[in-house]
Parts: sequence; structure tokens; C-alpha cells
Amino acid sequence: EKDGHDWFMRKEIYEQPQAVADALLGRRTPSGALQLDEMRLSEQELRDVDKIIVIACGTAFYAGLVAKYAIEHWCRIPVEVELAHEFRYRDPILTANTLVVAISQSGETADTLQAIRHARVQGSRVLAICNTNGSTIPRESDAVIYTHAGPEIGVASTKGFITQLVASYLLGLYLAQVRGTMFGDEITAVVNDLEEMPAHLQTLIDRKDEIYALAAELKDARSVLFLGRHAGYPVALEGALKLKELAYIHAEGFAAGELKHGPIALIEEGLPVFCVVPPRGRDQLHDKMISAIQEIRARGARTLLLVEEDDPAVASYADSVIPLPRVPVLLQPLVAVVPLQLFACELASLLGHDVDQPRNLAKSVTVE
Ligand code: M6R
Repeated sequence: EKDGHDWFMRKEIYEQPQAVADALLGRRTPSGALQLDEMRLSEQELRDVDKIIVIACGTAFYAGLVAKYAIEHWCRIPVEVELAHEFRYRDPILTANTLVVAISQSGETADTLQAIRHARVQGSRVLAICNTNGSTIPRESDAVIYTHAGPEIGVASTKGFITQLVASYLLGLYLAQVRGTMFGDEITAVVNDLEEMPAHLQTLIDRKDEIYALAAELKDARSVLFLGRHAGYPVALEGALKLKELAYIHAEGFAAGELKHGPIALIEEGLPVFCVVPPRGRDQLHDKMISAIQEIRARGARTLLLVEEDDPAVASYADSVIPLPRVPVLLQPLVAVVPLQLFACELASLLGHDVDQPRNLAKSVTVE
């Protein structure tokens, strides 16, 4: 079943171009409008939403952080993102106009399930973003967007995550369509960008040997840091989680702007730091990231830059460059996460760990 691969995880990373294509399938009507087939909430209900709370755990939570950046930008609805286990036990403020979005690959995560039950009792609507047809979370939700990634066997989520991102973007664009916060051609332009993603992901996977060589070089690292900004920040968190859970190496993700508020004290000679560099644009994100990279490099960090190809600003600050296709900043997580997945998978494999069944972990966490 592994199709000749050593690990399900590796196979699932390589399946991501197809998974993204499947997640996008059938989402447009003949006239070009977006449609979500199991969106059982009426347009009026969606127009009445005055707050969104995304709840999830682990990797799905990081997908939720990306969803916040996209939905707030496109729809101008306030979005909170919260770990399901924290949400459930803190008496959150929920009304009939709160839309709770539960993201779960398995659809069986007990923490997330308890959180949606709590939200529904309070009268809020719940929409599930889920990969597993007929699982408990979508069954107990008012609406669902299935991610269509196909079965994910490896404990570490890969194609599950990437399709959660796609579903989150589709939700944001659909809300923008219903609420009129974007023009139809703007929505179409983003959907067109999404439809180019399978080809971009394939390009990244075709370059896997460069990442595997990097993993071999860094296999004795005792700690690895990940920096990002904006939509790249959740990618940094996800890169760190993958390394912790698979390679059992200490890893932390930080928002680059936070460095000077503490984490920069960790930087020492030779410490590997992956940096997700935002695409060049009209905002200052890119330049601010470059100055963070200069700061850590001056203190001895080994900088591994995930950066759009042909970015002339970075060459002199990079110990290694991992080129990314040029995509809009909000969609960059889709491409930036792939090299980090490949890196963690390969490093864990080189260290002799069971990549598909890391110690102490279960694929779906059905206890609170
Ligand atoms: O099935 P779910 O998406 O609800 O699972 C949530 C987390 O348990 C899961 O993402 C976990 O963090 C993975 N091991 C990450 O690779």
C-alpha cells in the first residue's frame, strides 16, 4: 500500500499535488461562482455571522491560524483561533451569530468534539472542515467542507494539513462572495491561483533531493528554530511541530517580530534557523523579515531561507536557499510547508525513527 515508499508519510507528502486538485474539484458553478456542496447554512445565516471562532488542535490549529489571516482580509469578519481544549473550558462568548469552524482531519478528536458540542448548546452554528466522511465531528455539525485528501495513515499530518488550508481559503472566498466583500473577478483570481498550486507543489517535490541532503547535513542538530511572519508564522509553528513529533529534536517556531522580545537570546553559533520569507510586495513584510535574518546571522545562526526564487535581497544572508514558487502571501503556506515536511520526514528516517508511528502519539486522539 505504500507504493514502494518506505513510509506512508513520504507517500502522503508526494500525494499533495493530487490532494489539492481533489480538494478544489467541483467548487465552481458553470457561471464561475463558488459553491460548497455541504454548506447547509443559508446565505442569510452566513450574512448574519458577526464573529468566527476557529477551534482545532495540533496541525489543524495551525491551519486555523492561516484561515484567520485570509478570512479577516477577504471578509472583514473578526476571526479568533483557539485550541479546542482551551476554548472548551474557559466560558467563551458565543451567540447565534457566532460561526464556530472546527478543523479536524480525523473528525474524531475528542477535544474538538467536546468544543463543538459546547458551542451548539450555546446556540452557535458549527461548520466542520474535515477529511473523514461520516466521522463524528461533521455528523454533529451544521455544515461541512470535506477536504478530500484521501486516507491519511502517517501520524504526522501532511496532505491533511494542506487540504485544510485549501478548504479554509474556499470558506473565506465563499463568505466574501455571499457577503459581497470581494468582486467576482477578485474571487476568481484567487481560485485561479489555487488551481495553479498542484503544479507548484509538484515542482517542490521534484526538488526533494536538495532537502534530503540538507537533512543529512543537519542530522546531529540538537535544536532547530523556525521563523515566519504573517501567514508564514503558522508555517514556522508547523515546521517545528513536525520536527518535534517525528525526529524528537527540540524545535520552536516564532513570529519573526517577536525575536527581539526574547527568543533572540537562544541564537548561538551554528544554530539552524529556517526562515519563511514573505513574498516581495507592497507591504513591508519582506524587508522586515530580511532584517530579522540579518540580526540572527550576525549572531552566528545558520540561516536556511525558504524564499521565492530569484529574490536578489537574500543571497548574502543565506547559508542555504530553498526556492519557493512565486505566489501571493496569503497562499504561501501551501508551498512553504512542503520543504519542511520533507525535511522532518527525512531527518527522522535518517535517525532510525518510526516515521509513521512516532513514540507516544496516536493518529486520532479520542480522549480528552
Ligand atoms: O484529526 P485532527 O486533525 O483533529 O488531529 C489534530 C491533531 O491531533 C493532529 O493534527 C496532530 O497534531 C498531528 N500529529 C500533527 O502532525
